[in-house]
Amino acid sequence: MKRRRFLKTVAFTGAAGLILPRTSLFGADAPSNKLNIALLGTWGRGEAHFAGLAKENVVALCDVDEKHLAYGASRFPGAQQYADWRKCLDQKDVEAVVCCTADHTHAHIAMWSLNRNKHVYMEKPLGNTLEEVRLVRTEYLKKKNKLATQVGTQRHANENFDRVRELIRDGAIGELQEVAAWGNRKLPRPGYLPGEGEPPAHLHYDLWIGPSPYHPYNPGYFSGRSGANCLQWNMYWDFGNGQIGDMGAHTMDLAWNAIDATLPTTAQASGDPFNPEVAPVKMEMHFDLPANDWRQEIQCAWYQGGAMPDNPAKFFDLNQIDHGALFEGSKGCLIADFNSRVIYPRGNQANLSYYRPRTVETLIKPMGNFQGQWIEACKGNLKTSCDFDYNGRMMEMMLLGVAAYKAGKKLQYDPATGLVTNDPKANEFLSRPYREGWPLNG
Ligand SMILES: NC(=O)c1ccc[n+]([C@@H]2O[C@H](COP(=O)([O-])OP(=O)(O)OC[C@H]3O[C@@H](n4cnc5c(N)ncnc54)[C@H](O)[C@@H]3O)[C@@H](O)[C@H]2O)c1
Repeated sequence: MKRRRFLKTVAFTGAAGLILPRTSLFGADAPSNKLNIALLGTWGRGEAHFAGLAKENVVALCDVDEKHLAYGASRFPGAQQYADWRKCLDQKDVEAVVCCTADHTHAHIAMWSLNRNKHVYMEKPLGNTLEEVRLVRTEYLKKKNKLATQVGTQRHANENFDRVRELIRDGAIGELQEVAAWGNRKLPRPGYLPGEGEPPAHLHYDLWIGPSPYHPYNPGYFSGRSGANCLQWNMYWDFGNGQIGDMGAHTMDLAWNAIDATLPTTAQASGDPFNPEVAPVKMEMHFDLPANDWRQEIQCAWYQGGAMPDNPAKFFDLNQIDHGALFEGSKGCLIADFNSRVIYPRGNQANLSYYRPRTVETLIKPMGNFQGQWIEACKGNLKTSCDFDYNGRMMEMMLLGVAAYKAGKKLQYDPATGLVTNDPKANEFLSRPYREGWPLNG
């Protein structure tokens, strides 16, 4: 807030005729214009943020693995170091938090950061249960006039996202009826890894477990390469949600960006037999999404691990697309992956006369660098493309789908209360228990 007020004052006095000196005191790189950031998770996905963060003041680093913490400190030697993110978030000069820890801590870190009035960039997914993402979204909405948030679905910056949105909004496939997204990553696991040896001295394993129920240490949870270690733990329910929080968070974004959806009113899901320890590989979910001011009610679906929507015509093979989206309209369909799209007009009426391509001037403007957009938002207008409201609604839908999968029946959902209305027992699947000392709203 102080920085925003300062920038506004500068703009005002500038307009009044004051000539500002061209020194680094006032430029984009001026010390006063840098953000004080805490980076949580200083290896793996955290590394992807190093270059962008190096332009700001990284004042705090946190990692449960002291070797990883030392790695981050070698890049940001001036930062305070922590193993416990709860202590890190109490550092007074931290204005903004970039979080790259394991999924089962995301909603906690988001809530604790918002409660301390810090801007947040949260790696996807925003949370692991419906209750978590709903609480985080609600808190963000209370503070959106002073805090900037972004969920780390950086593919959103691909201009293809804008082109897909334009084609749907401009009626290239007629009236939108259905949308489906899918992903084919398969990580089969039998169950939690059995205890094996003691955690190494450099790893604070109990802090890694954090809010989740305790599971004995096994080096297998930590054996992945940098940036892909999440695949070692994200299939286990107490740590992740399998593909829902993994590629699902990226791929549904391709669809969600084009449909201006609120929250679903129903959810139905099926797939591999339920395993209380491990998320399913193969699964599909179906939702009803209410009408909005430019379209009718639509069906939305997510497919994973071999489940796929039907091919819209014999000469398409959607299996050739690892992660994609299919939009079905009254006059054809649109198929997209993260970088390209194809329109398939269908039927005698599909002559495209009703569709006017945009001029270059009226195309949606590229959002630019995804992480950079959030940093600029923290310093100024607070506007980001994937804030906790936009992404929170999308994840609320996906996590309602997880509850429907666990319940094994079609759920009716009340978006106003966040409760299942036709099966009170299913509401148990909307939240999860936490260990003592790890409240969600801390
Ligand atoms: N946006 C993307 O494209 C993308 C890509 C990969 C991973 N991710 C997300 O980034 C996150 C991290 O994934 P990863 O593969 O780097 O995982 P990881 O297991 O390697 O963890 C990253 C770092 O965080 C540390 N860490 C874990 N839990 C912590 C905690 N509670 N407190 C402090 N430090 C903690 C780890 O020690 C490690 O150094 C995941 O949520 C994942 O979904 C996003």
